[in-house]
Formats: sequence, structure tokens, C-alpha cells
Amino acid sequence: MEIKVTRAAQLKPKPDENRLGFGQIFTDHMLNLDYSPDKGWHDPRVEPYGPIAMPPSAMVLHYGQAIFEGLKAYRNPAGKIQLFRPRANIERLNRSAKRMCIPQMDPDLLLESLKTLLRIEQDWVPGAAGTSLYIRPTVIATDPFLGVRASHTYRYFVILSPVGAYYAEGFNPVKIWVTRDYVRAVRGGVGEAKTPGNYAASLLAGEEAHRAGYTQVLWLDGVEQKYVEEVGAMNIFFVIDDEVVTPALNGSILPGVTRDSVLTLARHWGIKASERRIGIDEVMAAHAAGRLKEIFGAGTAAVISPVGELKYGDQTLTVGDGKVGPLSQRLYDELVAIQYGKAPDPMGWVEPV
Ligand code: COI
Repeated sequence: MEIKVTRAAQLKPKPDENRLGFGQIFTDHMLNLDYSPDKGWHDPRVEPYGPIAMPPSAMVLHYGQAIFEGLKAYRNPAGKIQLFRPRANIERLNRSAKRMCIPQMDPDLLLESLKTLLRIEQDWVPGAAGTSLYIRPTVIATDPFLGVRASHTYRYFVILSPVGAYYAEGFNPVKIWVTRDYVRAVRGGVGEAKTPGNYAASLLAGEEAHRAGYTQVLWLDGVEQKYVEEVGAMNIFFVIDDEVVTPALNGSILPGVTRDSVLTLARHWGIKASERRIGIDEVMAAHAAGRLKEIFGAGTAAVISPVGELKYGDQTLTVGDGKVGPLSQRLYDELVAIQYGKAPDPMGWVEPV
């Protein structure tokens, strides 16, 4: 399919690479693609970044039928642009689409159109340490209709944002609050789909955590509120004795690409890495027994994010000595080296643009 390109009349000034936060600055162009039942997905085009015109009756505005992804483009030492496991994100987008009744998309078209956009925006991929170009593919339901059913028409778009660290803490340990008042997702719900409602549902607990001085919320399962699930912007890992543990994918946990990369790397290094049910009581008991060595989160935006403190009810637990643990550090170093093309890529994760 031909990808039409309309260039922006004026280009924006580039930001200071050493002062990038997360998701505040957007590039000059975006990618658009439409779906209708008669044409299927059609008319892929790169256009100037700008507002999306839609009627106030557009279904996404009422019932939240939408999905998104998050991945990054990196500048390698040769100055070339590369992606990290983009096909894994595209596969997940299609799984989210299935759950949210959105028509499947052609993975080759998504990857090729993304590369076209990135080639046009290549000057926006920052080169400073710890920076990258965050990519946000999104699909929204566009039928002008107020009945509750799946939309018949959709818009897919991709926007790009040069970013630094997701958390203000950077790679320093974050403080996590375990909520007992709210749940993020329930069995049979949409927890494993990357759909905006999951994030909207997390905001109130997030605000309470912030007020108490915590960076993010750790969610427990929606049935018994006993088993650890995820942090919302990242999956969670525990190092207990010599085992790395992350909650098994059970339908209510987001199947993170970084989560999978961490498990793969750890196993490749001969470390026991388990996906299993892990209760918050087990975490607290392991800590009390001196067996809880590290906690860290893993996600595209967050990369590897060490957890220095966990609060659960009236118990506050300092993880290790509150500093970055050795496995968190090793995983961060190796993952980042692969992503930026500074280390060999034995798993074939890197995709040149
Ligand atoms: C990501 O890690 O890419 C995410 O989507 C998490 C968050 C920024 C919503």
C-alpha cells in the first residue's frame, strides 16, 4: 500500500536533549490510517502533527473503545535509528484489538508505515544518554453514534515524542504504594489489553499514593486482593533468594515486552526466572526473613525501575539498602546496551529503520 506523505510547512525547533522529560514534546509529523467496513484499513499517510477532527458523537469519546502501544526508537553509535522488538508491540496491538472489538491490522503495513514516519522524523531521535523517541500508536472508534456497540469505523494514528526518563527519579529507586482500596482489573475484564480505561481506572489510587509521597501504585488481584499483579506503567519483579519472580500472565496483567525481555535475559544468564502467582504476604515474609533482595519494575517507558520502598497497610519495607540492586543494574545495563546498539543482540531484538 502506498504511503502518502504531506510535509509540514514549518518545522518546530528541537528541544534540549539533556532536559527531556516524558511525553510533553511532539514531533512535526504523524501517521494516519483509516478503517471502514467497505475499504478495510486504507489510506496510510504521513501528515503534519495536528488536531484530529471528529464529531462530539464519536464513539471513542463516549465508551472508550480504543487501544494503544508504546515503543521506542534509539540512535545507535553509528548515528542510525533502530527499534526494539517492534513486532512484539504490533502483535500485542492486535491482541488488544481483538479484546476491544477493533479490526485486526496488517503487521507488515504497521511496521513499514512506522519506518516511513521515522525516516521523515529521524532528526527528532535524540542521541543523549538515556534518551529516545517514544512511539505511541493508537486506535480510536470514530462512528458518530451513541448506542452501545462496536464502532464500524476507526482511525489509527502514531505520534512521536522525544523522551528522557519516565520517572523524575530517573534510574534511582522509586517508592511504591500497595493499594488495598482499589483494583485495576478483574478476571475476564480488559486488564491484559492496552486500553485507555485501565489507565483511567488507576488515577484515583495514583493520586492518593502521590499525596502520601509514593511514585506509583502496586495493584493486587481483583478477587482476593492477595496476589501481586502490576504497577500500571510497568510489570513488577521480585528477587527472592536466587529466584527472580514475576506474576504469571493471568488475563488481568499487561503482557509487557520489557517483562518478556527481562525473563529471557535472566534465563539466558542461567538465573532462575519464574512466572508464578506471588502473594503480597509472601513478599512481606521474604523481606522479614531477609530473603527479599530486590524489587524492580520493567516497562518500555520505565525501562528497569528499581523499587527502594514498598508500603502495604501500616508496614513500610525498605528493599535491600534502598539503593539499586545488582540484578536491576545488570538488567538495565544489558537491556539499554542492546536497545542502543552498544552490545551484541543475540536474541535478534533490534530492527533497523
Ligand atoms: C509504556 O511503557 O510504553 C507504557 O505504555 C506505560 C505508560 C507510559 C502508560
